[in-house]
Amino acid sequence: MNDKLQAKPVEDLKPDEAEAELERLAGALARHDALYYRQDAPEISDADYDELRRRNEAIETRFPDLVRPDSPSHRVGAAPSEQFAKVSHKVAMLSLGNVFSEDDVVDFLNRIRRFLGLEPDETIEVTAEPKIDGLSIALTYDHGQLVQGATRGDGNEGENVTANVETIAEIPKRVADADYPERFEVRGEIYMSHADFAALNARQEAAGRQTYVNPRNTAAGSLRQLDPKMTAERALKFFGYAWGEVSALPSDTQMGVAQALQRWGFPVNPLMRLCQSTDEMLAAYRDIEAQRATLGYDIDGVVYKVNRLDWQDRLGFVSRSPRWAVAHKFPAEQATTVLRDIEIQVGRTGALTPVAKLEPVTVGGVVVQNATLHNEDEIARKDVRAGDTVIIQRAGDVIPQVLSVVEEKRPKDSKPFIFPDRCPACGSHAVREVNPKTGKEDVVRRCTGGLICPAQAVERLKHFVSRNAFDIDGLGSKQIEAFFEEGRVLKPADIFTLKARDDVSQEKLEDREGWGALSAANLFAAIDLRRQIELDRLIYSLGVRHVGETTGRILAKTYGTFEAFWAAMVEAGDRQSDAFAELNNIDGIGEVVASAIVEFFAERHNAEVLDSLLAEIAPLPFEMDQTDSPVAGKTVVFTGTLERMSRSEAKARAERLSAKVAGSVSAKTDYVVAGPGAGSKLKKAEELGLTVLSEDAWYELIGEAQEP
Ligand code: IVH
Repeated sequence: MNDKLQAKPVEDLKPDEAEAELERLAGALARHDALYYRQDAPEISDADYDELRRRNEAIETRFPDLVRPDSPSHRVGAAPSEQFAKVSHKVAMLSLGNVFSEDDVVDFLNRIRRFLGLEPDETIEVTAEPKIDGLSIALTYDHGQLVQGATRGDGNEGENVTANVETIAEIPKRVADADYPERFEVRGEIYMSHADFAALNARQEAAGRQTYVNPRNTAAGSLRQLDPKMTAERALKFFGYAWGEVSALPSDTQMGVAQALQRWGFPVNPLMRLCQSTDEMLAAYRDIEAQRATLGYDIDGVVYKVNRLDWQDRLGFVSRSPRWAVAHKFPAEQATTVLRDIEIQVGRTGALTPVAKLEPVTVGGVVVQNATLHNEDEIARKDVRAGDTVIIQRAGDVIPQVLSVVEEKRPKDSKPFIFPDRCPACGSHAVREVNPKTGKEDVVRRCTGGLICPAQAVERLKHFVSRNAFDIDGLGSKQIEAFFEEGRVLKPADIFTLKARDDVSQEKLEDREGWGALSAANLFAAIDLRRQIELDRLIYSLGVRHVGETTGRILAKTYGTFEAFWAAMVEAGDRQSDAFAELNNIDGIGEVVASAIVEFFAERHNAEVLDSLLAEIAPLPFEMDQTDSPVAGKTVVFTGTLERMSRSEAKARAERLSAKVAGSVSAKTDYVVAGPGAGSKLKKAEELGLTVLSEDAWYELIGEAQEP
């Protein structure tokens, strides 16, 4: 049926017609929301969508008794996430690093060898298995009884989808095996097979309904149905491959746990196998790749995992991925299409990024309309022009890119692209900075408009509310853009004064298109929830150049509270100060990052923005993961040769115990761990009268006296 406006004006509708029309609109809007938000494949223009919403609201206003419980006006942009309860993961659900080449695989094993300090001839046994292209799920079992199913979410907090998971036949509801631990959280992938996907689409087609784009998005959408009956109708499948919180492990190897999972009744991928060398890993990769087309479900690479669990434990994690596992991705898929135009986007730090606007084309099951052209030099090198036929490539979750131009197909009248030297958003000069160290011109052209550039301001706000920053339910990029345009939100603090201003405003949010009383109230409530914010999130949200999530965390850990951090950064504005030396000395922060941070805080406008924000929110002091650690919050410097483990491992262990590892010795250093051959750092430590420990004494201090 046509989702566009039905001819009959709202004023003329009879109650039974209105009821039918509301039902139709609820279905249509839900479908367009799904297309837009979940499948990234909208079918109608924003204007047509808004028209549907307006009509729905007009009918509801005229017939308030007929408002449906599932009315679209109860949802903000229909992010389906608002409907499921949140669940925090006791053990974070992390992601995997990607590698693409054989050399990368060799590097992966070498890094592990170095980290663990293994001899060159010691075998590192590794499992290899397909990387399933579905969505990850955490299944908690209590005494063998399935008690919870949760999506990954942001890795720390997911959604409770237990009722839906219970409808999946392949997932055991109860594990009767006697050796099943008291508590065991199985993790794995939910996916849809090609056959089930095709059958679903055939049913859709027969019913005259829209077909789905690809199995992955359909599986994700199916799992997040509010009505479990809907989930049950979609044949979803499962492979187990990992675990979260457990009271005991059935084996001391990855393969052993996989075998136990299988014994307990969980599907485990039959292609999983053990490899003793890079050659065997690459053979497994080629073998799995060769079977890709006939497996009957989507995979996008091979995952390698160190088999020994004690080694996995020692290797630990870096940022959000384990050191002991990696995904070896299949080569990217390519397609040919026409480039309609080149658009320049302005990022939060002023970087001008050229984006190719393409004739929509399907690459690897996903419709692509935009691709990155990287920068000015890349466009010139490839001589990409509007109207060109281009080859694009999409690898997994990476942004599609334009690879090359099919020159034979170039229109006769085409002209080379001229990269603008002014910002398209604010008209300021856009320049390529010269790196003071190398004397080379930066590849990125940046808008110099800084604080006056509206595009940068919007991008900063989008970053501020993004997933790893303030992450406010119902306040995404779309809403920020609209609020900025209307002048409702121009700076971060405005988000927190939205409600107070709305209360006394003539133009209430709830009267605005696409909003209603409930969705506005939900948004205000979600904003209030964020008035208390973790310090690392807050620091990251400021959008300081070079300060990503990891650096945000390091800074939060080092300074503990926002007040202390801010004060130290203001002091560090003097490059000769101890405060600057301390910042620069933090492991993981170099000169460039340190300078970017102090420059940010030296900017008067930024101070004002922060002042107004802090009037609204209360940053929480940084919480050490392990408060009972004897070295939590202490600053440690390792120097000389370490004999028991590699320096990287020693550092990673110290950090796991919430210690701060620094590169050089200062009055703020708590412990200097000195091995044989320690030189100037040891001398300085002695001069300053610091506590100097031998390697053994250090392990004794952290309660890991001597290895068995
Ligand atoms: S192991 C600590 N094994 O890939 C990470 N992940 O990019 C443990 N995935 O979020 C993950 N197949 O959703 C693992 N055989 C497999 C996998 C797999 C698919 C997904 C998983 C994860 C993502 C990371």
